[in-house]
Amino acid sequence: MTSSSVLARVRLVMANVHEFPCEPGYRLHHGERVADIAASICETEGIANEPLILRLGAIMHDIGKNACPKGVSHAANGAKIVETHFADLLAPEEMSGICEIISHHCDRPKSKWFDSRVKAIAVKPHILAVQDADVLDHFGPSGIWLSLHWAAAKNSSPEETARYWFDSPQSNDWRAESRQSLNFESSRVTLEKHIMMMDAFYKTWMKQ
Ligand SMILES: [Fe+2]
Ligand SMILES: [Fe+2]
Repeated sequence: MTSSSVLARVRLVMANVHEFPCEPGYRLHHGERVADIAASICETEGIANEPLILRLGAIMHDIGKNACPKGVSHAANGAKIVETHFADLLAPEEMSGICEIISHHCDRPKSKWFDSRVKAIAVKPHILAVQDADVLDHFGPSGIWLSLHWAAAKNSSPEETARYWFDSPQSNDWRAESRQSLNFESSRVTLEKHIMMMDAFYKTWMKQ
């Protein structure tokens, strides 16, 4: 494959998708950040990978999520979209490497949602890195960016948004699940830094 032609197609498919309440192309921007974080995790943890396969799989891990039918896994659906839209650009082994990342990006072995009865698979280390990167991109600066969009959509005040972060059961459950589901120690360190950053940010929105 030529990476420039594949990346041009990726942008064509993902750049103008609008997923309320985020900015147009949010899933592409999220995917690009996840690709950078996953590459960094692989480097830190010494995980062997094919850099271009890792990058393309990570960028497209949520492709089509906005329009995924209810009851259908967006991971499996995304892999099908890539098989349909990129067959002319990718060699078979490239396609299978990219689709393997997309298909298994939600199969987090440590998650409380992981069903080992139906997913008797050993998720490869570079895919575990993408999973961690996906979690990490929902915290820190990206987490604040997301929360601003959701706050605007729900007409929440800054203080209500801060209280949601600190006090809501949903927010507490989400932090607990995110902590539990990470695969690597370096990811856990990064997550705690991101959470501390968000704590400090939201504290400035709380009335004294
Ligand atoms: Fe996803
Ligand atoms: Fe994601």
